[in-house]
Amino acid sequence: MMLTLVGPDIEEYARSKTSPDGKVLSELAAQTVDTMPIPEMLTGQLEGRFLKLMVQTTGARRVLEIGMYTGYSALSMAEGLPVGGELITCEIDPAAIAFARRYFERSEHGKKITIKEGPALETIKNLDGQFDLVFIDADKVNYSTYYDAVMPKLRAGGIILADNVLYSGEVVDPRSANAKAIAEFNDRVRSDDRVEQVLLTIRDGVFFIRKK
Ligand SMILES: C[S@@+](CC[C@H](N)C(=O)[O-])C[C@H]1O[C@@H](n2cnc3c(N)ncnc32)[C@H](O)[C@@H]1O
Repeated sequence: MMLTLVGPDIEEYARSKTSPDGKVLSELAAQTVDTMPIPEMLTGQLEGRFLKLMVQTTGARRVLEIGMYTGYSALSMAEGLPVGGELITCEIDPAAIAFARRYFERSEHGKKITIKEGPALETIKNLDGQFDLVFIDADKVNYSTYYDAVMPKLRAGGIILADNVLYSGEVVDPRSANAKAIAEFNDRVRSDDRVEQVLLTIRDGVFFIRKK
């Protein structure tokens, strides 16, 4: 199952007009689908190229990812970083980390990535310095907590991107705990004077938030 809000024909058309993934990223995605549980968690080509271009066009040099899984979005964003740029990614699942490491080692961009194993909130508390861009894509019930934790570490003018903020459309009438948490997070961002934001209807919804 793919998490998309537009019909499959339009999604496939948009994907087909989007720049293709390179060899390592394509193999990472294919192997995730073939061998890993819950492969629909992959952001996929459309959103992956979007993330890369966001990193590249904002000139980000230091990126934080919350929720790496098998490394697809991390490697996509690392491609957009300059030489000497850094991406720190948080992941709790050792099997996903072992999988991702194999592909990071094969990519020229893998050396920009540092994996922090363990609960993301603990990792974030111990991170020094400021970030240019943060991608939130871990457990949905904690989105607001992650937002609060990363805001002080995001530079003025920095960007937060949060995935799945439409939660398959359920946010308009949230029933599950995840959808309720995402809807609360979306309300929280909307009422936060520290940021400007636009909720993009790419894939399952991506919140594009800029700290003033
Ligand atoms: C939707 S997936 C991430 C997908 C990834 N960004 C990609 O594009 O392939 C969410 C990931 O967050 C991880 N996760 C869940 N709770 C976490 C936590 N408290 N700390 C760190 N990682 C967590 C899960 O193990 C899972 O791999």
